[in-house]
Amino acid sequence: MENDVGEVLISQEQIREKTKELGRRIAQDYEGKNPLLICVLKGGLMFLADLMREIHMPLEIDFMAVSSYGDATESSGVVRILMDLERNIRGRHVLIVEDIIDTGRTLNYIIENLHTRGPASIKVCTLLDKPARRLLDIPLDYVGFEIPDRFVIGYGLDFGEIYRNLPFVGVLKPELYS
Ligand code: IMP
Ligand code: MG
Repeated sequence: MENDVGEVLISQEQIREKTKELGRRIAQDYEGKNPLLICVLKGGLMFLADLMREIHMPLEIDFMAVSSYGDATESSGVVRILMDLERNIRGRHVLIVEDIIDTGRTLNYIIENLHTRGPASIKVCTLLDKPARRLLDIPLDYVGFEIPDRFVIGYGLDFGEIYRNLPFVGVLKPELYS
């Protein structure tokens, strides 16, 4: 599997440092607010697991699964909820934890949907931001890394459901997806 990686874009060490920094900022910003971190599955799983350990304060987590990609590297634009939250978010300070914001269509859908449930606030924390392909202008409150317009894998991100368990963010060798 490691042999399929053409280049490591963001190393484990870089992710570790960035996660610490974001965790510190989030803990400061949410002091006394018992935030609810909403992890968008499956890609956000690894980031949530590391990030929450760097937020040294009481918090809660919940999960939501949406689908916007088939097995291809292009967004379909159609977003579906595959699994909904367990908790009621009315009056809660919600922090959406995402792996990557690409066109923004998935996040836009999630935010609009969560808004109807009456949370006290909604903010977004994403590990990766790919601004080159953005179709919808959505404010991102916490961003780990801005990356160029390349299809990335690892640290939760997949290609055809594979490579999520790589501990770093990399790009595939081009011959594997063209
Ligand atoms: P958007 O709706 O176009 O912003 O796409 C967001 C979702 O598409 C992410 O949550 C990922 O699941 C997936 N995605 C976007 N870019 C990549 C990538 O480079 N690698 C893997 N998955 C991606
Ligand atoms: Mg995702």
